[in-house]
Amino acid sequence: MTFPVHRPRRLRQNEAIRGLVRETQPSTHGLIYPMFVCPGSGVRAEVSSMPGIAQQSVDKIVEEAREVADLGIPGVILFGLPEHKDEKGTEGYIASGVVQRAIEAIRKARPDLLVVTDVCLCEYTDHGHCGIVENGKVVNDSTVELLAQMALSHARAGAHIVAPSDMMDGRVGAIRKKLDGANLSDVAILSYAAKYCSSFYGPFREAAQSAPQFGDRRSYQMDPANAREALKEVALDLDEGADMIMVKPALPYLDIIHRVRAAFDVPVAAYNVSGEYAMVKAAAQNGWIDEKRVVLEIFTAIQRAGASIVLTYHAKDLARWLKAC
Ligand code: PBG
Repeated sequence: MTFPVHRPRRLRQNEAIRGLVRETQPSTHGLIYPMFVCPGSGVRAEVSSMPGIAQQSVDKIVEEAREVADLGIPGVILFGLPEHKDEKGTEGYIASGVVQRAIEAIRKARPDLLVVTDVCLCEYTDHGHCGIVENGKVVNDSTVELLAQMALSHARAGAHIVAPSDMMDGRVGAIRKKLDGANLSDVAILSYAAKYCSSFYGPFREAAQSAPQFGDRRSYQMDPANAREALKEVALDLDEGADMIMVKPALPYLDIIHRVRAAFDVPVAAYNVSGEYAMVKAAAQNGWIDEKRVVLEIFTAIQRAGASIVLTYHAKDLARWLKAC
């Protein structure tokens, strides 16, 4: 392949020809929009580090869910802020919990919208860890049982997809067993399989009020230095019954998305997390970047790397911009 016979610019001459040869066509089909449900009614409290994103009571969540569905976004993922936190995260798995009530209300208001739920204890525990703490350590197996109960309570309320984000070992298998035992075999599992111990979750912890009160999450979330280990985590979750797997965060981990996509023929999701969102918003508000072009480029890059499902706080903007394209 040599010049002048080959001239790659031939296929870049105008938008029609560029469109013809475009390898990645960003579309709204894989978008999931994260939402934070809090107690009360009529509440909408903006998260300062995530402009445009708010903690909202169930009635407000339903309003926004309608808007999301009208924009052609196929699904939302729900996170809960309980009334009271305790050491076992009790409000996370009771039928009257905020997320359970939000699921029911959204399903009623917009049956066409997919409801995904985050399954993890950190939003509900007073110590902020993703599992039960004994002698200063997060213990695996008793946590797994509570996670399975939480997934079951979400599924009973009407969730289509449960997404465990805790990184305990064996939780996918326990959740699958629990759901199947309750005749809920149609409920799918999207596992946060390769979830890294990342500093990019900072703003989320303000939104979900879930910062660990001591220590950090390094004993359960993955070391950012490891790529091969992600393949092991994904393989284990698939063996245990995960229907879809997730890599998180997205932008600093495009290599992981690519490797996972190459190694497994299953739907791959990526979570474009709170810190990634906050950086874009801050730079855009300062006039340092063109927000629309940057967000579309990031979204295209995540899809190009191999993720067909993207969880992102930019989802509503993306849906509007893609409609206008
Ligand atoms: C719960 C959970 C977290 C995120 C999703 N689920 C926080 C964490 O692990 O600390 C982060 C999402 C984001 O940053 O947007 N475990």
